[in-house]
Amino acid sequence: MCGIVGYIGKREACPILIDGLKRLEYRGYDSAGIAVLNCGGIDIRKSIGKLKALECAIEGCAPKGTVGIGHTRWATHGRPSDENAHPHSDCSGQITVVHNGIIENYAELKSRLIAEGHAFASETDTEVAAHLIEQYYDGDLAKAVRSAARELEGSFALVVIARDEPDHIVAARRHSPLVIGLGEGECFLASDVAAFLKHTRRVIYVDDDNIVVVSRGGVGIFDLAGNPIDKEVSLVDWDAAMAERGGYEHFMLKEIHEQPRALRETMRGRLSSELDRVDLPGMNLSDEDIRRINRIVMIACGTAYHASMVGKYAIEELCRIPVEIDVASELRYRNPIIDDQTLAIVISQSGETIDTIVGLREAKEKGAKTLAITNVVGSMAARESDGVLYTYAGPEIAVASTKAYTTQLMVVYLIALYLAQIRGTLDPSRAAQLRAGLWELPGQAELILNDYSEVKRAAERYYCFNGFLYMARGINLASALEGALKIKEIAYIHAEGYAAGEMKHGPIAMIDPTFATIAIAVKSKTYDKILSNIKEVKARSGEVIAIANSHDTVIEDYADRIIRVPETEEILSPVLVAIPLQLMAYYVALGRSPNVDQPRNLAKTVTVE
Ligand code: G6P
Repeated sequence: MCGIVGYIGKREACPILIDGLKRLEYRGYDSAGIAVLNCGGIDIRKSIGKLKALECAIEGCAPKGTVGIGHTRWATHGRPSDENAHPHSDCSGQITVVHNGIIENYAELKSRLIAEGHAFASETDTEVAAHLIEQYYDGDLAKAVRSAARELEGSFALVVIARDEPDHIVAARRHSPLVIGLGEGECFLASDVAAFLKHTRRVIYVDDDNIVVVSRGGVGIFDLAGNPIDKEVSLVDWDAAMAERGGYEHFMLKEIHEQPRALRETMRGRLSSELDRVDLPGMNLSDEDIRRINRIVMIACGTAYHASMVGKYAIEELCRIPVEIDVASELRYRNPIIDDQTLAIVISQSGETIDTIVGLREAKEKGAKTLAITNVVGSMAARESDGVLYTYAGPEIAVASTKAYTTQLMVVYLIALYLAQIRGTLDPSRAAQLRAGLWELPGQAELILNDYSEVKRAAERYYCFNGFLYMARGINLASALEGALKIKEIAYIHAEGYAAGEMKHGPIAMIDPTFATIAIAVKSKTYDKILSNIKEVKARSGEVIAIANSHDTVIEDYADRIIRVPETEEILSPVLVAIPLQLMAYYVALGRSPNVDQPRNLAKTVTVE
């Protein structure tokens, strides 16, 4: 969380920094700040609140200069305030830094630095880095950053300028993302390529414990001992327009609408056009490796965890391999059973979620083969895993995940079919049915998006309700949890996802006329059971909205409202069910929250524990 940017070139830095921060605001929006090197000084401006507040504050008096750094904050150490906003400086005003991550030994370092005479102006862990660099500074910023980095513990992406070194910016990273953009006579630094995509698509991904020196003429990358490192330049295949709202009121709505395309892209080249097989070379596993697997562990957080729930169901059903799923923050503090016959699959849109990355490392250490499902090329998850399967969702900007989720589902289905194909666990005609079903999904998603007036009508009625209960059985339990998460995240309404069979063990007590139940009642083995559960809610004066298939007439005698989705195989239905649930959350939120794309207290990429 937190977004950082840096620019050095021939153009005015301020507008480039502000524009870059706008594209990183999804990472945090408690405060924002910039620092620009000019006329032998560093001009620092910062404001509590969203970037807009900073923009207003500098209107008509923007700092001038062609070198600068910027930051948008998600508060960890120190409440949101002007003082705690980045950039932070040392005592002399020589060094100025922006930081993403947490410096875990900051308290110890701070006491030491105070004892040595440093005066602190904020409550942040970041300020420690500024003073520590000052401590080592003798006219060589890169050397001072290198020495400081060796002492810092925890996670950091640091971008640093020095008043007396106006011809370069120095950066360092450990466990927090940092990428360099290479332009003509200019360079960019950022937490995410989206910040500078409109200027360049040529990038270098910075690795842990790299020290970077960028200047107008190019880039030098060094290890912590100061030895130069050669790094590959990659070309990003996203273009700047993909990170724009494109006429939609919010990124979230745009991203919901992008799902048919994203699903097609994610399937392309993996499901053959004759629909006769699945190929996943990105898994980087031989057929023999695949036959050896006797256990799969899936590790993820948030929405991606719900994708892993679907993965468990699909892989166990189709491949008969036991699958364990873990919320990443829990996995790392127990002692999971993982060995060299385990395949660990991490799912992460950003590929940077720290808990997920630590889970991945733990699985690797225990000897597992590792596979990442991620949306971000070159992300930490992609680089640290043995294999990687990208979701081709394109940049996802809204904090609430939509297209990343459904494309993650697409990938877990492809994995299940691929493993089943190699292990011979699936009857060929059933496999063919499922491949055909997958192929249909993007078109079916389009049908939902062509007309969702019933979702809007339902949202108009329910936006003032006190709570929502999402109930489902089987594979759609993941959909229920994801639907509830979406509405909590963006509409701030209490919601729960529950196994329908468990309703009578507690949640049914909550049913009253201001509490709506969303029942996922698409065609399934347990359809009749869901109908009974709807009856139970109705008998207690609850109002029920059913997500049901297009031609289901039976449901009409049960639910108060029906939102229709096309019929598909039960196992594939979470993709289609997700879409009206996303839309429902979106339209309910519109009536309650001013900012759907940046809900309070959240950040899209969680790089702290
Ligand atoms: C945050 C985001 C969620 C996301 C989760 C995991 O909480 O707000 O939308 O699902 O992190 O992120 P990842 O990038 O690992 O998928």
